[in-house]
Amino acid sequence: MKKVVLAYSGGLDTSCCVKWLQDKGFEVICFSADLGSEFSPQELRKKARAGGVARIYVEDLREEFARDYILPSLKANAVYESKYVLSTALGRPLIAKYLVDIAHKEQAEYVAHGCTGKGNDQVRIDTTVKILGPKLKIIAPVREWELTSRESEIEYARNKNIPISATKDKIYSIDQNIWGISIEGGMMEDLNNAPDEAAYVLTKHIDKTPDKADYAELEFEQGVPVKVNGKKKKFLAIIELLNELGGKHCIGRTDLVEDRTVGIKSREVYEAPAAWILIRAHQELESVVLDKDTLGFKEIAGLKYAQLVYQGLWFSRLRRSLDAFMLLTQEKVTGTIKLKLYKGNISVVSRKSQYSLYKKDLATYGEKDQFNREDAKGFIEIFSLPYRER
Ligand code: ARG
Repeated sequence: MKKVVLAYSGGLDTSCCVKWLQDKGFEVICFSADLGSEFSPQELRKKARAGGVARIYVEDLREEFARDYILPSLKANAVYESKYVLSTALGRPLIAKYLVDIAHKEQAEYVAHGCTGKGNDQVRIDTTVKILGPKLKIIAPVREWELTSRESEIEYARNKNIPISATKDKIYSIDQNIWGISIEGGMMEDLNNAPDEAAYVLTKHIDKTPDKADYAELEFEQGVPVKVNGKKKKFLAIIELLNELGGKHCIGRTDLVEDRTVGIKSREVYEAPAAWILIRAHQELESVVLDKDTLGFKEIAGLKYAQLVYQGLWFSRLRRSLDAFMLLTQEKVTGTIKLKLYKGNISVVSRKSQYSLYKKDLATYGEKDQFNREDAKGFIEIFSLPYRER
């Protein structure tokens, strides 16, 4: 029997993939990466067993995801098209890396995934597999089969006795991990419809948020968040805590019409409370400790970084080189930013750093001003010279 290792989430698409591959004569081995998704390992095992898979690997990759994928992206303040913190995009290369490793271990010739033929995820997973396991053959059932809508998949699942979970799965396609949630499909495909309040997973309706603010005091060491409200915590624990705290105040919702790598525009709604809180705090700290040129260039490099991640080019020389640059910029990104979380907004309460380049004596309009205004006159004469000549 031909062996295939399938990246399995337990959702509608991959549940149908199991059956479809079995019907094509494959022995199906499943691999589920736990990046902080909705299904517990027990649920996944149970579902896979009910689907008759030969073996299932469930790996808790949350620590590795946080440390090796999210953290570098946070250092770069990577955000795609101003609104997407790349939660799904960052997870794909990690999933693909494990898919390749397990296929090698199982001596399988094939790997499979449940990505559609229109999305970014097929590009990200296929590209990573081709880089890390060039001999492996890739099967993407959803790209090939005749089930062209979610409705027909549900129909197929019913006919084949495939266990699928209820409600939301049927309406929207949802991808969830610790860095955020992506929600698409259904009525949101019409740009005239506001997001469906019922689709949100992590964030409370703004009307149900508390009338009292919460505060998140975030301490960074060389760009790495190390403490929240005075308590030392692992990066993963910080993310989990901030998702909860931010979710309570309806922080981190975005609604984006985005440009997919395959050329089409699509609409996706995102929830990422922790990501937006951390990026905001990190940017605030950088604004205090980094010089103007580094800040400006880092912003441009961060845009490129986000595009690379979005396009699935995680395992590229450019991404790794940009990481090296980002890392060097973080040398003095040490300090504490206190944020207020209230009614869907993040505002800054205080900024502290031993490496602050902000000098009150220079900036003040008050008494102790150390800035030499006399020098300003001469500076402006020379600064404006080429423009005056023109
Ligand atoms: N648009 C996002 C991306 O390309 C998310 C894709 C998956 N979305 C989903 N709802 N399953 O990274």
